[in-house]
Amino acid sequence: MSTAVAGKKPWMTDAGPTLGAMREAARALLQANTESVEYEGRSWRYSVPSTGSYPHQWLWDSGFHAIVWSLFDPARGCDELRSLFRWQRPNGLIPHVIFWHPKRAYLHIWPHLESTDRWGLRPGNRPRTTALTQPPVLATAVERLVLAGAEDFLAEALPVLDRYYHYLAAERDPDRDALISTIVQFETGLDFSSAYDQAIGAGPRSVFKLVVNSRRVEIRNKLAGYDLRRIFAREDHAEDLLVNTIWIDNLKALARLARRAGQPDLAAWAETKATQALQSLLERAWDPARGLFFNLVGSGEIRARAKTIQCLLPLLLEDLPADVAERLLAHLTDRREFWSPYPVPSVALDEPSYSDDSHIHGIRLIWRGPCSMNTNWFLHQGLLRHGEAGYASQLADRSRELVEKGGFNEFFDARSGRPVGAKKFGWATLAVDMQSLR
Ligand code: GLC
Repeated sequence: MSTAVAGKKPWMTDAGPTLGAMREAARALLQANTESVEYEGRSWRYSVPSTGSYPHQWLWDSGFHAIVWSLFDPARGCDELRSLFRWQRPNGLIPHVIFWHPKRAYLHIWPHLESTDRWGLRPGNRPRTTALTQPPVLATAVERLVLAGAEDFLAEALPVLDRYYHYLAAERDPDRDALISTIVQFETGLDFSSAYDQAIGAGPRSVFKLVVNSRRVEIRNKLAGYDLRRIFAREDHAEDLLVNTIWIDNLKALARLARRAGQPDLAAWAETKATQALQSLLERAWDPARGLFFNLVGSGEIRARAKTIQCLLPLLLEDLPADVAERLLAHLTDRREFWSPYPVPSVALDEPSYSDDSHIHGIRLIWRGPCSMNTNWFLHQGLLRHGEAGYASQLADRSRELVEKGGFNEFFDARSGRPVGAKKFGWATLAVDMQSLR
């Protein structure tokens, strides 16, 4: 029997929060956000990120949901990914958003801008998916499900992953340096992050330009018919550090899955790509003077300047040289930069663009300060992989506290811990996984 009292979260008892109860609350949330759809004579299941604000299926959100499902119901986690894999294109791309209920999408402009469908707001012109993709977390998600017991899923998922990662290597690496390029900031999962301001010609607090100039890139992509040759001929594509860190880490996961399935050629391909990409990351994106990595923009690989969470993300990579990891750690644990009372802010506290909220002057501009559970989850693993159990444990404790006080929220104010953004948000349940990874 629950001893929860008014004002407390369901997993808090008089004796304090229990991990078991918090796990149950996570499971209940993913279950409450689950949608079941009949399509092509089959049933499909997935969780929306948040019922009010995000009523579709998103790629990396589903990857995170599947990881959390692996803790208590791997079969449900496999279904989460199956409903995404259904929409893989013949060229291997897995779209970043699936509009299972197209009528929820057609009155908004962005689904039309981000799809290849003929332009138009009439009910007949309802996009089914976007033409974008998102950070490639799917190999990690499949690996977690397989290790949790869904061994049969490997044979089903591996060909999909094979085509997807080969698509990224073949089509998304115009300069052949093994780092992959995004065609608009909305592919990085970090919409409106200050890391992209310079490239779109917007000042740190120019709300109007941030919104208009970022969407202008999408208008150009739409007018180019999402033809990658035409898009990469422009100078606004980028090699994003969060995307490329996840790319490298997931190539390693893909290699392990391929070895498990007895496919040494695929394993060797993925290992080699991961090694080349890490080498390029160090040669091109590492700034030894500042001790941080920076995003690369356009064919001239112009470095972004703002200190954002992307700059720290390569800490996740276990093969990162120890001296580089140490420099990143110094920034991550600096109270004036990233070690805020509730770490880790998506933008350093001492950046002019830093904001406590996910709205600026009432306009939704996310990833400009507040912290999110998915980036905390990556950095927590990075700390563990680089032998920093003390900091890892502090980060897990603060993350747990955020969820205990504010619920499974999209973002949290990195200084006060106040929940901001969407409520009852799926990937915030990664806080539970973080507790088990200690
Ligand atoms: C926002 C986030 C993106 C996420 C999506 C759905 O667009 O920036 O990362 O996938 O919401 O949760």
